[in-house]
Amino acid sequence: MSYVDAALAPQRKTGQIKLHGPPAFEGMRKAGRLVAECLDMLTGEIAPGVPTERIDRLVLDFALAHRAVPATLMYRGYRKATCTSVNHVVCHGIPGEKPLKEGDIVNVDVTLILDGWHGDSSRMFAVGAIPRRAERLIEVTYEAMMRGISVIHPGATTGDIGAAIQTYVEAQHMSVVRDFCGHGVGRLFHDEPNIVHVGRPGEGIVLRPGMFFTVEPMINLGRPHVKVLSDGWTAVTRDRSLSAQFEHTVAVTEDGVEIFTLSPQGLDRPGPSAAPRA
Ligand code: MF3
Ligand code: CO
Ligand code: CO
Repeated sequence: MSYVDAALAPQRKTGQIKLHGPPAFEGMRKAGRLVAECLDMLTGEIAPGVPTERIDRLVLDFALAHRAVPATLMYRGYRKATCTSVNHVVCHGIPGEKPLKEGDIVNVDVTLILDGWHGDSSRMFAVGAIPRRAERLIEVTYEAMMRGISVIHPGATTGDIGAAIQTYVEAQHMSVVRDFCGHGVGRLFHDEPNIVHVGRPGEGIVLRPGMFFTVEPMINLGRPHVKVLSDGWTAVTRDRSLSAQFEHTVAVTEDGVEIFTLSPQGLDRPGPSAAPRA
């Protein structure tokens, strides 16, 4: 199999999807694992009364202590180390002083650059006891991401991923956000191809060994439509329904898929919240 050495390739979009070789896989394993460890570290830190800015600070300190840099810092004018998206915020919530409160759900999205490689992952966290419908949304969103990942193998298409996610989510009477998608990742933060989380089997781009991209479905309890607030970043559901998201960075391998951002502690999946339900 031939591949471009992405470590030497120019760092811009070329219209061609990169096929990476063994050194790139090694770099992405390290970057992906570090992001997972960073999200693991947050598990005990997210509680009622905690401002999302504190989460951001913990991530920045963690990154710098591990000789990594958060990719979102100074990215297109963004100034934080994370995105923290609470309740009806779909994605790109900006960390701030407002404290989390009991019953909130929050997505923390972290991208770390380690030795030039980008690991990109996000998880949902429950703030104390959360309502049953929020718990169900989180479970369905995690399952949707994993169903999308599970159909990845050489010869499958991006449409197969979207179809796996959309079919499952809509059968649960929830909706898939259309306005944001997964993306190629590696030496670049956002590269080709786009990974749309809806679609039809067989459509889109054919997957090849050595492709790196994210799968990061955003799922709403209500309608799929979003709007971006006047800060230019924060995307919210138009109907103000709850929204959730999970994200892994993955590679297409010779015989299937490798997930770079798995938690070494098995904390990827939201456990049942320890506290009694709100
Ligand atoms: N980490 C997000 C993603 O999954 C991108 C955040 S870009 C930011 O692609 F500028 F909003 F931080
Ligand atoms: Co991403
Ligand atoms: Co991300």
